[in-house]
Amino acid sequence: MQTVLDYLQAQQGRFVRELCDYVRFPSVSAQPQHQPDMVACAEWLAARARAAGLETEVAATPGPPIVLARTPRRPGKRPHFLVYGHYDVQPPEPLELWTSPPFEPRLADGALYARGSADNKGQHLAHLNAVEAWLKTGSELPCDLTFLIEGEEEVGCVHLAPFLRARAKELRCDAIVISDTGIPSKKHPALTYALRGIAALEVKVHGPSRDLHSGLFGGSVDNPAMVLCQLLARLRDARGRITIPGWYDKVRKLTAYERKEMARLPYKEAAYRKFIGVPQLFGEKGFTPMEQRSARPTVEINGLTSGYQGEGSKTIIPAWASAKLTFRLVPDQNPALALRLAQKHLRKLCPPTVRLELIPGHGGEPYLVSPDSADAQAALRALRAAFGHEPVLLREGGSIPIVNDFKAILGANTLLLGLSLPDDNPHSPNEKFDLDCFAKGMRMSALLWPELVAARSIKE
Ligand code: BES
Ligand code: MN
Repeated sequence: MQTVLDYLQAQQGRFVRELCDYVRFPSVSAQPQHQPDMVACAEWLAARARAAGLETEVAATPGPPIVLARTPRRPGKRPHFLVYGHYDVQPPEPLELWTSPPFEPRLADGALYARGSADNKGQHLAHLNAVEAWLKTGSELPCDLTFLIEGEEEVGCVHLAPFLRARAKELRCDAIVISDTGIPSKKHPALTYALRGIAALEVKVHGPSRDLHSGLFGGSVDNPAMVLCQLLARLRDARGRITIPGWYDKVRKLTAYERKEMARLPYKEAAYRKFIGVPQLFGEKGFTPMEQRSARPTVEINGLTSGYQGEGSKTIIPAWASAKLTFRLVPDQNPALALRLAQKHLRKLCPPTVRLELIPGHGGEPYLVSPDSADAQAALRALRAAFGHEPVLLREGGSIPIVNDFKAILGANTLLLGLSLPDDNPHSPNEKFDLDCFAKGMRMSALLWPELVAARSIKE
């Protein structure tokens, strides 16, 4: 084992240079003009995995390709684990808020600044480097590994579930490992045992057949933008508690143990508020900010459009208004049911002076697994050894919908072992990835595989 860890340390400089090469690809899945960059990025990753000693395949899908990389299979039966990650990144806009261009990696303060550095290229590259260390030092990896790195995570994993179904036999595995979540600090390595789910809904309010003069018609014709605002305002109360009838019926209560664990996490209100840049925090009564942002449902307006947005003023009643909403869901809420309740509520509230159009979007179930399983305990041992600190158990507010498909299609639970710090700015300008987290993540990954294998042989 020591030779594996020594190898990682000796190669750290090259690993950082390679991560720089990786983040240079503007692999923005949401923007069609970047399609060739997606393919080039996938090819780079496959070549990198081949150089690490893995057998690779760049599998075509109707969208960007999926990169598969397998450790060379040896005769005999070994546990099989899947490492999932995504090589696509969020759009970098607004560009003017970046200190340096998003696809020109910059090393500063022990971190690498670039779009995709933390979310998710650096995190899955850490696993790939760890496996390279096992293979190149002639150490015998006690399991079979398959990397599945896709290019559509940031747009909802459109083609992944059918791919999993088509390849279920070869992808069946004992557990899935994903590093695409966060840790509270380097002193608090974490196993994330719950994620929020998501349900998207676009709300459109149609009024007059064209924009109207607000002086000539205003007063006799309803204003779709105003109606939309009134509808949206009735989705939650002044502290963010959702006011849709039946919404909380399926919401699981936090246990006393969970609340105690959350209270142990490092959190300073003033620093949190300053980092976010708001005059005051907000949130549902009776819950701490940590609880509010991970274990409670929310509704957010992600985009709001209507009327005249240009310079100066234009006195109109706009013909339509639209809002893009997402709800974050917690166990045991279900996206389809949540959307039904929301739509029923909006239809009931909408006045007859306008026409309401509701367009349900993507959804993902919330996720929760027991942190007591043998696999989870094995992961905690690897985290403890790699970071030199006692790991914490986290519930996180973000969503990784595919983990439920992994369970349903491949029959395996997912271990969420994130490496991203709270100030890494994923989806924001100036995204970064801490190089110490990168190094510790590689050590964690190297140590994880024998721990997972040992945990299974005890169980059997
Ligand atoms: N890695 C994140 C999700 C995440 C981050 C979970 C931190 C927990 C902690 C992922 O890349 C992401 O952003 N997912 C989207 C999913 C959506 C597009 C369906 C999200 O949560 O908004
Ligand atoms: Mn993301």
